[in-house]
Amino acid sequence: GDLHASDALAAAVIAQRLIKTDVEVAEIEASLVLAAEIHGLAMAGAHPGQTERGLAATIEAHLASAGSYPSYPVILTRRGEVLHGHPTGALLESGDLLLVDAGAVSVGTRYASDLTRTMPVGGTFSERQRALYDIVLAAQTAAIEAMRPGVPFRDLHTLAARTITDGLTDLGLMRGDPDEAVAAGAHALFFPHGLGHALGLDVHDLEGLGEDNVGYGDGFERSEQFGTRYLRFARPLAEGHVMTVEPGIYLVDPLIDAWKAEGRHAAFIDYDAVEVWRGLGGIRIEDNVLVTAGGHRVLGPPVPKTATAVEAAVRAGA
Ligand code: GLY
Ligand code: MN
Ligand code: MN
Repeated sequence: GDLHASDALAAAVIAQRLIKTDVEVAEIEASLVLAAEIHGLAMAGAHPGQTERGLAATIEAHLASAGSYPSYPVILTRRGEVLHGHPTGALLESGDLLLVDAGAVSVGTRYASDLTRTMPVGGTFSERQRALYDIVLAAQTAAIEAMRPGVPFRDLHTLAARTITDGLTDLGLMRGDPDEAVAAGAHALFFPHGLGHALGLDVHDLEGLGEDNVGYGDGFERSEQFGTRYLRFARPLAEGHVMTVEPGIYLVDPLIDAWKAEGRHAAFIDYDAVEVWRGLGGIRIEDNVLVTAGGHRVLGPPVPKTATAVEAAVRAGA
């Protein structure tokens, strides 16, 4: 017959497994060493003439030779605005933004890492690319800095959305009161997904037992608003949680078309300005963060993250 966990058993397993022991954190950090290596290879290889698939193969070969494998299918695309865009035969061209979302499993124990960097093919961000990049980095930094036990992850999602809205308002893409824009969900044209999720043996940890069972409860219900409803984890953080923090900004043609046609959130979005930025692609920055008694710790070795550091890592591979 059908075998499935009772609600009580699922809740008990989730409660226990969301809190990582030191040994588990060490395994996640071991997988992050491999993740850092493959992101280094991706940056060094982000040059014109390389194909998406060729560069993905370099990553996969490195993991295989280390006795590991990708913790989820490698996302490596010059069309970063297509979420979960898998590598194609497309040639990388100078001026492209390349989004690489790739992690490894720890050898033997198979704990996952889940890391994203976005880089300029050839090694120089355009002025516009860098402006959006810096906003995503500011959103990620603000969310990470605010992580500590007791803080609802949904508040960090809102903080990231607010930081993105502030930045896009400064650039003229958005307008009006930023808090009202976020409350209305206008930011979701550019940031249409959630801030992150729990990470462990599974990349979306424990969600086989029900995504809502992992990330909701404790008085938190899933939002019905486009964007925030895709937030996988809303409830308060606790010491021992390991979370991804992965804000992004994307210019998604069909979404822009649909919203513009109906004038959706026109009080908060300058659609004429959006036309100027259309085609820029997508930017996401993702790290894996442990919640500690005193706050948080970004796990794993550092991977180039400021725009200047990423440019230098790409140029070093020329
Ligand atoms: N790599 C899938 C995710 O970021 O959730
Ligand atoms: Mn990811
Ligand atoms: Mn993720």
